[in-house]
Amino acid sequence: MPGLLLGDPFPDFEAETTAGRMKLHQYLGDSWGILFSHPKDYTPVCTTELGRVARLSSEFSKRGVKLIALSIDSLEDHCGWSKDILAYNCEKSECCRLPFPIIADSKRELAVSLGMLDPDEKDKDGLPLTARCVFIIGPDKKLKLSLLYPATTGRSFSEILRVVDSLQLTAERRVATPAEWKPGDCVMVPPNMPEEDAAALFPAGVFTKELPSGKKYLRYTPDPHDLGESVDPGYSLIQPRQCTSIL
Ligand code: BEZ
Repeated sequence: MPGLLLGDPFPDFEAETTAGRMKLHQYLGDSWGILFSHPKDYTPVCTTELGRVARLSSEFSKRGVKLIALSIDSLEDHCGWSKDILAYNCEKSECCRLPFPIIADSKRELAVSLGMLDPDEKDKDGLPLTARCVFIIGPDKKLKLSLLYPATTGRSFSEILRVVDSLQLTAERRVATPAEWKPGDCVMVPPNMPEEDAAALFPAGVFTKELPSGKKYLRYTPDPHDLGESVDPGYSLIQPRQCTSIL
């Protein structure tokens, strides 16, 4: 059975969190949102993940993204664990000072309803733990992207920031982003866009790579939001910015 599909309205659940009881949609307001789940409090990989999200939280805020975590433990555990996460980040260890709330889901009701369980990882009572899910929710409260990692593989939150940059750009402009794209790199003209439309829409130029098939579908154009060399997107830039250098 498929769980939530891209484009589905994201459930407006109500939950206890380290920032109080809240309804998801009200918490998100008009912002983008990321709900990310963790197998268990006081576990090593999860601690590194939450520490990383805390360190990147200003990058998510810059992009207008609100964060919310979920782990299948109690508020009391979340509170004690938050202090460990802050200490892991070498910050002062006070309860609930993480820059995002953590949902308490000790009965696993939300984890089950959102399809977050990892059948291969069990707790001491033999119950499945939550997998490492990421749901990115648009300002329209629809699901824009989902990732599902097993408990044993920690996520790259730099990649999730990169994905937010792509989702926000492609929500606004009729472009697509290629493999390893980062802000400022050339973007791709969607394959269904006629040549004349592309020429009119992208005055900075459309650069087409010659291919053995003779088909002209590998079309690049400069990033319409080009941030310029001096802007640091919060993670490393490795791709060339000039479309012609790709061809
Ligand atoms: C961890 O966060 O370290 C972890 C949690 C469950 C299974 C494996 C690793």
